This record gives sequence, structure tokens and C-alpha cells, in this order.
Amino acid sequence: MDECVVIKGKRILLIISGGIAAYKGPDLVRRLRERGASVRCVLTAGGAKFVSPLALSTVSGDKVYQELFSLIDEREIGHIELSRDADILVVAPASANILAKMVQGQADDIATTALLATDKPVVVAPAMNIRMWEHAATQVNVAALRSRGVTTLGPAEGDMACGEYGMGRMLEPVEIADALEAFFRDRERLSGRRALVTSGPTLEAIDPVRYITNRSSGKQGHAIASALAQLGTETTLVSGPTREPDPTGVRVIHVESARQMLKACEGTLPVDVAVFAAAVSDWRAAMEANGKIKKRPGETTTTLDLVENPDILATISSAGNRRPQLVVGFAAETDDVIDNAARKLETKGCDWIVANDISKAAGTFGGVANTVHLISRDGVENWPRLSKATVGERLAKRIAQRLTEAND
Ligand code: CTP
Repeated sequence: MDECVVIKGKRILLIISGGIAAYKGPDLVRRLRERGASVRCVLTAGGAKFVSPLALSTVSGDKVYQELFSLIDEREIGHIELSRDADILVVAPASANILAKMVQGQADDIATTALLATDKPVVVAPAMNIRMWEHAATQVNVAALRSRGVTTLGPAEGDMACGEYGMGRMLEPVEIADALEAFFRDRERLSGRRALVTSGPTLEAIDPVRYITNRSSGKQGHAIASALAQLGTETTLVSGPTREPDPTGVRVIHVESARQMLKACEGTLPVDVAVFAAAVSDWRAAMEANGKIKKRPGETTTTLDLVENPDILATISSAGNRRPQLVVGFAAETDDVIDNAARKLETKGCDWIVANDISKAAGTFGGVANTVHLISRDGVENWPRLSKATVGERLAKRIAQRLTEAND
């Protein structure tokens, strides 16, 4: 597919917030227009300290929106119309302040009001001082936005206007334009596609108060579902009990046991792609007691009979004509990660295995980062240590690519 075709004709609402990188706004507008997009600019009060509205209106060929309540503008086009008219809202640069306001749903200027009033895809390109970026508040805010379906581009590492070096630089306009191209291309590839993702642990009851479970947080599975939905896939997430919020734009089915998870998964078929990120309990109690199991006087040891749970991944992989076009399993391993995972490709009958090292030293379980290897019959791709959100985005892009190749 011709790269520029996908962005041609797209209407981009570019929100420029306060930060030195705002001076790159006109360059970004120019590059997007060169590729055939139309760009309408919203400039915050902070942004206007770094770039002039005149420069932006000259390069965009449109007026620049700065006021929330302007009688003339509201008659022409108000904040609701601004987001209704756009195919995508892009915040670049996105300051720490505007990210925090987005999380809280504040709407005290035209930029934040347009962002609150939209149901269109939102992309942010953060730019700020390294310590502001690394501050726990910003990191929590970015994670919250991502779980609500906001796509983040960057920031990058480099020299900063404040004289420091580190993470926090806005991506260059050409990189943002390329990323938006890729975003539209992947959305086009995945539009009309259906995905199933499993996430979290399962919970297997022993009696009304006790159960067997594991340490899976659900962060990775939820991030994958969110990333697929951001790219326009109709996504169903079947999740065991987790503390993760339901991702925006995703249909979520909450389950407890492996058997419930299997039933829910089968109920979503047919889908184009299924990703099994849940840490399903291999075993369940042979007999779930109706009443609380009592400790008998003098009892110092006891045994619990377990029976095997159904293998959800293997079942869906061999679902005949209901088998998804692409089936992706996970392999959580502590030793011989790649060998053990590659074996699962065969035993489970799936197309890809995402292998991850869950040894204590790797800190994967419950943590925000993941080091994974994407294993297929074509070989092994070793991905660097990435946040789970980024692993989700990268996997969603690879899925988009694979589904398109398969149809070519
Ligand atoms: N899986 C599943 N149903 C099960 C067990 C596992 O769908 N009953 C899926 C997981 O979601 C994952 C893959 O199978 O995608 C591998 O899970 P893992 O726990 O690593 O493998 P196991 O088959 O349980 O093997 P082992 O515990 O021996 O490593």
C-alpha cells in the first residue's frame, strides 16, 4: 500500500500545547499537508508563547482556534464541531499539564474541551523536561491515557532546550508524520477485523472461600486488547480477575475459572485473530466443596485432588473451520525460555508464541515492562525490554501486517 495514500484526505485536528517544541508546529503542519492531509490547529495559551498563530494559520491555510468562547467562532465552528469534523486529534507537543488535564477530564480551554468532547482516535506526542517526564504523576497519567485508548508517540531521548539530556524530547515532525501514516495504514488493515484476547489469571474455587490462582496482573493482555482496539479492531477481551480497568473501546467479558474462560472464548468465534495472554490455571480442584472445608482436630497435613483444566489455546487452535486466521499464544517461562516456548508452538497448534521470561529477576509478573521474543515457524524475533503498553502496540502492528500479507 502506498504510504501517502492512507493519510491523503484525512482531517487532522492538531492541538499545540505549551512547550518549546511548539515551535515545530508549523513544520509538522507543512509535512502533514504535503502528504495530502488537511490540518486545523488549536493553540493553547501556553503554546502561543512559543509559536505564533499567524505562522500556523499561514501554513495550515485555516484559522487557528484559541478561544473557548468566541461568539464569532462559536457561530462558525465551535469546540464540538472541531472534534466532530476531524478524523483524528493529535496533541503535539503534549505538555505534562495537558496530559494531566486529559486524565482528569478537565475542559477549561478549547483544547481540553475538544479532547473531552471527542470520540475520535487521540494521539499524543509528549514533550517535557526529563524529570517531569519521569515523575510518577506523569507516568501514571500516561498509563491511564493509554488504557483509555490514547496512542502515545515518543518522547525521544536527546538534548533538551533546558540544557539537560534525557527522555522527554518531542519526536521530530517527520517522525510524527510517519507514525500517523503508519497509524492510519494499520487502522485500514484492521478495520472490519475481529479480535479475541484473553488476559489475567484464572481463579479455581476449592470451596466457597478458597481458591487456586496465580500472580498474573493482566497488564499485558489488557494492553494488547487496548492496542488492537486503538487500531480499529472490534475487540473482545475475556479476562480473569485483575485490578486493571476495562480498556476503552473493548468489549470485556469477566470470568473466573478456566472453564468459564473457554466458554466465553468459544462464544466470540468467529474472529480473525486470537491472542491468549491469560495465565490459565493448569489445574482445578477435582471436587469443589459446597461448604467451607473444615480443619479436623489433630490434622497436620492434607491433600487436595486436582484435575486438568481444558487448554483454551489448544482448543481454539484446533477449532476446524472456526479457527481464527491467526492464533497467538504466550509462553511464560523461567528457564530455557525460547526452547520451551518454541515447543509450545507445536503442542498447542498456534501460529505465533510470544515468549516471556517470568523469572523473579526479570520482574515481569506484576511489573510494567516485559522482554519478549516473538516465535513463529519463520524464526525468532527478539524484542528489547519494552513497557507492556508498547509490547501491546507492537504486537497489534505485527498482527495488522500479518493479516494483510495473508490476504494478499
Ligand atoms: N493456556 C490456555 N489454557 C490452559 C493453559 C494455558 O489457553 N489451560 C495458554 C496460555 O494462555 C498461553 C499458553 O497456553 O497462551 C501457554 O501457557 P503456559 O502456562 O506457559 O503453558 P502451559 O501449557 O501451562 O505449560 P507449562 O505450565 O507446563 O509451562
